[in-house]
Amino acid sequence: MTQTAYRAQLLTFRDDPAHASDGAIFEEDGLLIVEDGRVVAAGAYTALRSRLAPDAIVKTMRDKLIVPGFIDSHIHYPQTDMIASPAPGLLPWLNTYTFPTERAFSDPAHARETASFFLDELLACGTTTALVYCTVHKESADAFFGESESRNLRMVAGKVLMDRNCPDFLQDTAQSGYDDSAELIARWHNRGRQQYALTPRFAPTSTEAQLEACGVLARAHEDVFIQTHVAENTDEIKWVESLFPGHRSYLDIYDHYSLLRRRAVYGHCIHLDDADRQRMAETGAVASHCPTSNLFLGSGLFDFEKAGAANMPVALATDVGGGTSFSMLQTMNEAHKIARLTGHHLTATRMFWLSTTGAAKVLDLDDKVGTLAPGSEADFAVLDPAGTPLLARRTSRAESLEELLFAFALLGDDRAVFETYAAGNCVHRRDARKGAALELAA
Ligand code: GUN
Ligand code: ZN
Repeated sequence: MTQTAYRAQLLTFRDDPAHASDGAIFEEDGLLIVEDGRVVAAGAYTALRSRLAPDAIVKTMRDKLIVPGFIDSHIHYPQTDMIASPAPGLLPWLNTYTFPTERAFSDPAHARETASFFLDELLACGTTTALVYCTVHKESADAFFGESESRNLRMVAGKVLMDRNCPDFLQDTAQSGYDDSAELIARWHNRGRQQYALTPRFAPTSTEAQLEACGVLARAHEDVFIQTHVAENTDEIKWVESLFPGHRSYLDIYDHYSLLRRRAVYGHCIHLDDADRQRMAETGAVASHCPTSNLFLGSGLFDFEKAGAANMPVALATDVGGGTSFSMLQTMNEAHKIARLTGHHLTATRMFWLSTTGAAKVLDLDDKVGTLAPGSEADFAVLDPAGTPLLARRTSRAESLEELLFAFALLGDDRAVFETYAAGNCVHRRDARKGAALELAA
């Protein structure tokens, strides 16, 4: 296969920049060599140009910054059409907008069309891997994986488990949820780049029997992901206490059913205590911090200081449709401000780590995605420091890598993503999409 190489600025990571001052690897004049959908080499142009095959195609874009594709650790594809729906908090928002919207995903055609738009939107934002909630309908998961597979994306997704405290039209049972999840694991887990996540929505919408059945599946499939919500909202927590009396904490309920482990990803983790954070760290379960959602729904402020002190694994996420943007850059913007409000300075360099290599590491995906290391799947985003006039003005004055990344994080969104690549294929071109949108509007 022909090599394709990209001469550009490069950013990747060898370690968490919060712990290692040389954690970020930046090449001002870099070369990324790709072949057969994988990274062959990434580094300084001068050091690597001799490794180019004679027939290599070299794309020169020295004004652009290539970063590993972003990883969104928590998002709901069926909520695409209800993003930005007003409600006075989580529980009324779920009842008024979320559940009625999710009803339509029993229809495979609707599910496929929404999944297709959703994936295009993620790719437009430079996100190449996401942990995705489908709906209770197994058809919704088949539709999502089908669309992801046809684009050859690395995605993790699962059918929601929900057997109580929601409308009848969205309920499964402990048995049917178990059977459908087992069937979907057999069909999709590790098929190409697709991976499965057991997805109990949150403790209030599952009976003890359903959580038990989920734990059985989790033990039977040690490498499947688990995703759910925990400690997002104070009304939710009171409700959980009344439904599951006798547990030390909300998190302890999931622990009881063997759902705390590596590759278990817990959305929000706002109102945890120190013992909970310690338990997350001990088990390797991941806190998925969803800043735009937490501000939008008024859920509370994630505490980076306490997360760090406990060594709790953390990744960033949009949580669309509770989240208000598909962009991990906009997610960083709000993460920075939430950290600021809790007395923590969250650097842009670290937010890029948390959205790429750091996320891949805590999800046990770092041998596949999240870096530009040789052998990695060639999933990357090409960022444009001149994506908007204001971004151009600010980035032209950046005096350090941190200042450049900070400008991207605070001022950037999909307009700052020039191209996105998955397994070496260009899966998004900003200017082509903009052209298509203008044509549609005309
Ligand atoms: N808790 C249970 N379901 C949901 C959901 O769809 N979104 C958010 N943000 N929290 C939840
Ligand atoms: Zn969510």
